[in-house]
Amino acid sequence: EAIEKGGYEHFMLKEINEQPRSIADCMRGRLDAKNGRLILGGLRDYMNKFQNADRIIITACGTSWHAGLVAEYLFEEFARIPVEVEYASEFRYRNPVISEKDFVIAISQSGETADTLAAIELAKSKGATIFGVCNVVGSSIARATHAGCYTHAGPEIGVASTKAFTAQISVLTMMALMLGYQRGTLTESKYVQLLNELEGIPGKVEKALKMNSNVEKIAEIYKDSRNFLYLGRGYNFPVALEGALKLKEISYIHAEGYPAAEMKHGPIALIDEEMPVVFIATKDTSYEKVVSNIQEVKARKGKIIAVVTEGDTVVRGMADHVLEIPDTAEAFVPLLSVIPLQQLSYHIAVMRGCNVDQPRNLAKSVTVE
Ligand code: G6P
Repeated sequence: EAIEKGGYEHFMLKEINEQPRSIADCMRGRLDAKNGRLILGGLRDYMNKFQNADRIIITACGTSWHAGLVAEYLFEEFARIPVEVEYASEFRYRNPVISEKDFVIAISQSGETADTLAAIELAKSKGATIFGVCNVVGSSIARATHAGCYTHAGPEIGVASTKAFTAQISVLTMMALMLGYQRGTLTESKYVQLLNELEGIPGKVEKALKMNSNVEKIAEIYKDSRNFLYLGRGYNFPVALEGALKLKEISYIHAEGYPAAEMKHGPIALIDEEMPVVFIATKDTSYEKVVSNIQEVKARKGKIIAVVTEGDTVVRGMADHVLEIPDTAEAFVPLLSVIPLQQLSYHIAVMRGCNVDQPRNLAKSVTVE
């Protein structure tokens, strides 16, 4: 086992640090930015039909569902097709309206989650076309779908998903870009520009990982907190949910993720000097609005930990702690902003003496409903 951990103390830390490589592996042979080419071989036979989809329904559980939420923003922005993101466990039991012009994308690291598999069977019986985004080759979900793309992140052992999440987002990003280009909702120049930016993401993840020692110091300060709030908007809203889930899963600290603007409809009542609030406040279209949310927390004496874009000065002047990530296209930010949140949950869990790789009550794959 020590050899499998490659010198790391836990699989989770190894998997967090593997992300520059796992994302590159996921894009290898598919993305060729220099020549403006993006090919997802697994979808080849279905691309014409996919272009004319009425609607995309994404179904998944847990962390994979969060990747699905990021994909909702991606597909709607680039391909202009309406998207719904469904918990598989809800979708399968509510007699959903599905037609033959619907495309269902099922996301699953293990490819064995019972609820996701059942949601696929239901959608299939109503005539929809089903794509799979799985990590485990030959898994039940990969076999049950019409077509799909593997994430090629390599085996993920830690129960809390990290590298599978960023690989899922990488695949879904490539799908959305390819679809947008083919539909003409994405211009050639924008497409090529985004392909180039995407190719540079593994290098930027490498840079984001360097915040680790700063993250560790923050973990030391807040490791005994009883609650955490995670806030983000737009592409960073699903990242807030994922950051909170990571902390809950492995450190057993209660954490909630919320869209920052919804804070005033409830969570703001919880804020006092005991409450750490993690803001994802990168330079994007909702930046100014997030800054005013930070002010609201500060006015109530909440402790502010902010993930910001390199060089940010405004949030730095307000927050108790900042963690910098490199600048990138707004749509690709989740691949970077989730990194310090993974590290934060990891360090807090280690400091609290928790079993990081095998947290209590959780399983790597849930094959029962
Ligand atoms: C379990 C795991 C999570 C995972 C979820 C969905 O709850 O502990 O890490 O996100 O199942 O699993 P899947 O394999 O379908 O992505």
